[in-house]
Formats: sequence, C-alpha cells, structure tokens
Amino acid sequence: MKKPGSKIPPFAALFSSSFGTRREALSEKHSIPIVNDSFDEIVSRETTPESAPETAALMVLEAVVVEKVDNRIHGEAIEVKANERPEAAPVRNVMDTMDETSPLASQLASEHQRRERLSGRKLPRPNTTRYMTVSNQKGGVGKTTTTVNLAAALAIAGLNVLVVDIDPQGNASTALGVEHHADVDSIYDVLINDMPLADVIASCPDIDHLLIAPATIHLAGAEIELVSLVAREQRLRRALDVYAKYREAQGMERLDYVFIDCPPSLGLLTVNAFVAAREVLIPIQCEYYALEGLSQLLKNIEMIQKHLNADLVVSTILLTMYDGRTNLAAQVANEVREHFPNQVLQALIPRSVRISEAPSYQQTVITYDSSSTGALSYLEAAAEIAERA
Ligand SMILES: Nc1ncnc2c1ncn2[C@@H]1O[C@H](COP(=O)(O)OP(=O)(O)OP(=O)(O)O)[C@@H](O)[C@H]1O
Ligand SMILES: [Mg+2]
Repeated sequence: MKKPGSKIPPFAALFSSSFGTRREALSEKHSIPIVNDSFDEIVSRETTPESAPETAALMVLEAVVVEKVDNRIHGEAIEVKANERPEAAPVRNVMDTMDETSPLASQLASEHQRRERLSGRKLPRPNTTRYMTVSNQKGGVGKTTTTVNLAAALAIAGLNVLVVDIDPQGNASTALGVEHHADVDSIYDVLINDMPLADVIASCPDIDHLLIAPATIHLAGAEIELVSLVAREQRLRRALDVYAKYREAQGMERLDYVFIDCPPSLGLLTVNAFVAAREVLIPIQCEYYALEGLSQLLKNIEMIQKHLNADLVVSTILLTMYDGRTNLAAQVANEVREHFPNQVLQALIPRSVRISEAPSYQQTVITYDSSSTGALSYLEAAAEIAERA
C-alpha cells in the first residue's frame, strides 16, 4: 500500500475534474458523509490505517467508472493503464479492499454494465418525423425534464430534434439555454399571429441538431386568445406542417423527432399539442397519487382521437422520479406496468440531484453531468424510444 503523503499526480489529475461533483452526488445518493475534496487526499487518507476505506473505495471506483464513460461519450480516449503509472497502484489496492457483494458495489457494477450496453449504440432514424407530445395534466411530474433530456439524448446521437415549448412557464426553453424573455419571437406569435415557425426557432447552444421553439410569458394569455381564432385547435399542427415543407424546400434534412412540452392543464394549448402530435408520451411520477388523474387524461385523449386526431396513440409511458429506497415507488411502478405493459419503457428515471440541478445551469442533465445515473437513464429511455419506432 502507498504511504501517506506520497505524490499522486498525474493519476490524480485524471480524476480531479469531475471528482468534486461526483463527491456531492455520491454523498447524497448513498447518504454517506464524504469530507475530502481532492482525489490526492482521498487516496492518501485511504492509505492510512484510521481512514474510511469503504468511502474512499466507493469514490475511487466510481471515479474510474465515471471517467471511462466520459471517454466514450465525448470520444476523447484517456487510457488508464495501471502498469504505465506506478501511482495507480493505490487505487487498485483500495478497490481490492471493497466487498464486491455490497449493495453499493453491485449498484456500481450494474451502472457500469448499463453504460457498456449504451456505448457505441447507434440510434435508428425513424422513417417519418415522430411527433410526440409530452403530457400529463398533473404538475411537476417531470414533463419538461423528460422532454429536454430525451431531446438532448436523441440529438447527441445525431438525430434532428425540435422541441416545441407550449408551456407559458417556458421551463423547456430555460433548460435548453435559449432566450425567452418577452421580446423574443416565440410560439405565441406562431399560434396567435400566424408567424412561421421557422422565424421563431432557435438552436440549442450546447447541442447540435437540437432546435427549440421557445415559449414566452405572452403564452399565458394564449388560452383565452385562441378561443376566438379560426381553427383554434389546429394551429400548432398547421405550423408544424408548414415548417416541414419549408425544411424540404430549403434542402434541409427532415426532422426526426418533434417533442411538445405541455403545460400542466388540459386547455387549448394542450389540445393543440394533441392535435399536432401522433404520439403521446406520459411521464408518471412514482408516487401515491400518480394514477389519480391519469384516467381523466386518457379520457381527454380519447375525445381528441374521436373528434380531432384519429391518429393519436399513447405510445410511451416513462416512470420518473423513482426512489428505489421506497416500497411505494416499486409498487406504483409495478401497477403502471401491469396496466400499460406495451407502453411503459423498461428504462426508469431515478430521483436524482443532478437532474434537478441541471436546469439552473440552463442545461440538460445529459450535458451537465453526462456520467450521472440520471443522464444514463435518459440515454437508455431515448434509445428504447428510438428502437421502438
Ligand atoms: N428524476 C428527477 N429527480 C429529481 N428531480 C427531478 C426529476 N425530474 C424532475 N425533477 C424536478 O422536479 C421538478 C418538476 O419537474 P418538471 O419541471 O420536469 O415537471 P413538469 O411536469 O414539467 O412540471 P410542470 O407541470 O410545472 O410543467 C423540477 O424542479 C425538476 O427539476
Ligand atoms: Mg413543465
């Protein structure tokens, strides 16, 4: 074992970039106090007899896993060859002290396997544009989070994706880092003033192939303004059709996915989304009231199918904010899977600090912390959606 105080870099440097953030996430995830900030210190500390080897081992192992995954996603290969660096030895020693059958170790191993499965996987392009509305009249169930992260995951895989934000809160616009103050031309102008969608669409600054039609505060009045307009339920659909033709005429590639982020209500904005879409994606939060209100949503969708859009199907259900520590979450997940065996994705989204932090940095979790379990889960969900096409 390495003696305390001995020199660790350059091995330490390899891990230090994401180490601080992993430390916080791990601390939260496993409710373990993690006190040290630097990888050097952790390794040195671990090598002293009075240190906490399990904590250090977990962190070191996670850091190794994280970096390997980062390499794959960003394509910047960093090779960690223990025999090339004598400094790597303490890490292997630390890992040797870890009980491989512990829940934490098996969780890390399982995440590692999931990443392995995802790496290098190419997502198929759908034959036609898939128009998906992300809806649930219940507030705060993860509609926006799901919209922006699935969109990001698919765009990063090289597919052409448009996010239409029709929630006056403009949360999707925020998360994707596009301006949406009152003076910005927005989806409001498209729905109410017949402005072409092409004139309001912005590019997500962090992700290629990802476009967004932003929402501004003006949209708050649109529910009422729409009432008196001609073809009030069809306005988004028409705008999207015109935009598809515009892209073709411009020689631009066809869009692969359009995600519409709905407000938590069943008003005219949501009706516009249901009419514009062919598929409904319902995020369901894994908690007690999850299924309440779902029947109302399904009834509304049936009405839309009958009167306005016969092609609409509930194609996808995604379980969100899953807390694996509670029996309740597992019960809700099982119940939803029983009711909707063909719609519920295998991937489920865990409750994760990283996911909730990302929007405050105007990011998706995929760009904010690509190695987090939240990002991994959304990447898995996106892959499943793409492969089900
Ligand atoms: N998996 C998750 N883990 C932790 N926090 C999450 C997760 N998913 C979403 N959140 C957080 O929960 C809150 C609600 O999520 P989100 O805004 O996506 O829901 P919503 O259904 O779009 O809400 P609204 O109905 O207001 O539009 C946000 O603060 C978000 O960051
Ligand atoms: Mg929302």
